[in-house]
Amino acid sequence: MSDGNRRYKIAVVPGDGTGPEVVREGLKVLEAVSEIAGFDVDLVHYDLGGARYLKTGETLPGSVLEELKTVDAIYLGAIGHPEVKPGILEREVLLKIRFELDQYINLRPVKLFPGVATPLKDKTPEQIDFTVIRENTEGLYGGGGGIFKKGTPDEVAMQMDVNTRKGVERCIRFAYDLANRRGREKKLTLCAKTNVLTYAHDLWLRAFEEVGREFPEVKPDYSHIDALVMWMVKSPEFFDVIVTNNMFGDIITDLGAMIQGGMGIAAGGNLNPEGVSMFEPIGGSAPKYTGQNVINPLAAICALGMMLSHLKEEGAGERVERAVRWVTAHHVKSLAVGKMGHSTCEVGDLVVRGLTEGQEG
Ligand code: IPM
Ligand code: MN
Repeated sequence: MSDGNRRYKIAVVPGDGTGPEVVREGLKVLEAVSEIAGFDVDLVHYDLGGARYLKTGETLPGSVLEELKTVDAIYLGAIGHPEVKPGILEREVLLKIRFELDQYINLRPVKLFPGVATPLKDKTPEQIDFTVIRENTEGLYGGGGGIFKKGTPDEVAMQMDVNTRKGVERCIRFAYDLANRRGREKKLTLCAKTNVLTYAHDLWLRAFEEVGREFPEVKPDYSHIDALVMWMVKSPEFFDVIVTNNMFGDIITDLGAMIQGGMGIAAGGNLNPEGVSMFEPIGGSAPKYTGQNVINPLAAICALGMMLSHLKEEGAGERVERAVRWVTAHHVKSLAVGKMGHSTCEVGDLVVRGLTEGQEG
């Protein structure tokens, strides 16, 4: 460890399935890169997830939530257990952290790394390089609604789509700012469905136009969700930064993950720009591969890189990304589970090597 005075307290939540295996590789890289960059980390591990729930009935105890509010960042593996009914862990752990910590931005870069196979014929890394900003605390995820007359022929189910002016506006402002600072061509595309959702998406469109006046350098652009998914496949080079609501963002970022080479490489950040943020590989817990040392840890390592950049250790964050690019370009055969030509641990070791050997170019 260094004696520099930059020090970060990181909550580590390995979670379920293959989560612990990929987090282990991420932490290996963290240790190595902190040495190089000269900062210190204090890790605090939390055993949240399906195993704890099945053993104790606890999901996210209040005391843990309070502790999570005091760290510099959260590093998450995956939450999801085959023996737990769908919806419990998602709502009580993952979504609860997002909501309670007000992580209102879900940031998902869609980048094709060198050497990675994309299902999009003839597309190159230059052509697949955009960022999706997904609103992360509202919309259909708000949980409002109810079921009436359940199990009868007259059953009614309603699920509320909540869009607050404040929630929409802060998300859109973040996206404009990102497009302004980091966008390739300073273009921001709003993805919505204004032709049908004439209340909710009218609010989105007005906020988009109004906030846009604060960013005269950014070119505003609009696409309906159904057309946008078409263009993501046909002409991904068209996109720079995309901003959208929670549900649409959930869907289009899985499509994004596929065109960048799959879940093995796709990472995301749940950001509260004024508070505590959480970083995760977006692929889930992949329970059937647990303990086999075959899962791809690159997504978790990319999430670690994002976390470092978020902590203002941009040098370290970029070093991690360059190391991952070196590994995809020169060392792994494929990103698919079991086809990497290396074990999970070996891929982590390769990234550590890349922190020094794979930095030019
Ligand atoms: C994601 C996941 C979650 C979501 C699930 C697990 C609740 O799919 O992070 O995209 O829908 O947000
Ligand atoms: Mn999802």
